[in-house]
Amino acid sequence: MEINVNTIIKDNDPLVRQKSEPVTLPLSEEDKALLLDMLTYVKESKDEKLAEEKNLRPAVGIAAVQVGVLKQMIAVDCEIGYDENDKPIVATYALVNPKIISASAKQAYLKYGEGCLSAEVDHSGFVPRSLRVKVEAYDLLQDKTITIRAEGYLAIVLQHEIDHFSGIMFYDRINQLAPDAKIPGAIMIE
Ligand code: NI
Repeated sequence: MEINVNTIIKDNDPLVRQKSEPVTLPLSEEDKALLLDMLTYVKESKDEKLAEEKNLRPAVGIAAVQVGVLKQMIAVDCEIGYDENDKPIVATYALVNPKIISASAKQAYLKYGEGCLSAEVDHSGFVPRSLRVKVEAYDLLQDKTITIRAEGYLAIVLQHEIDHFSGIMFYDRINQLAPDAKIPGAIMIE
């Protein structure tokens, strides 16, 4: 599937608010191809040249519903820190039926708020998330069921993408009365 800015559905499309269904394993060839296309989008979107050529908007994650498929699949590719040689550490997953099996009471939020390929306008404000989550999923890249123990940025990305399964957009979670009010007890992540 050709995934680009034009084929990604936006939040004025009622599909974005619908629930995504669990996917049957083993994956069908069709589901596999879609999930890999989603991952390719996320990876290529961060390459300036490719992004311009192919009309991609930079992203660290995408959910299948965003290309109009109501299935519980997400692709994630994001930098989560640096190794001892100052090389970025990248977390890359192609997940099927990811489930948050535990979440910390301790909260966190991104200093500059969140964005989404399906949101064309900026929604400023802090989005409260759990600082840590444990996610269980089948990962197509590793071809097995895995448990991800994520903290900080990766935990937030996973929560954002998994929210799409319930038709929840990140801005639904912003306190509309005080969008930029510090969230008590939560860690701000740059
Ligand atoms: Ni999103």
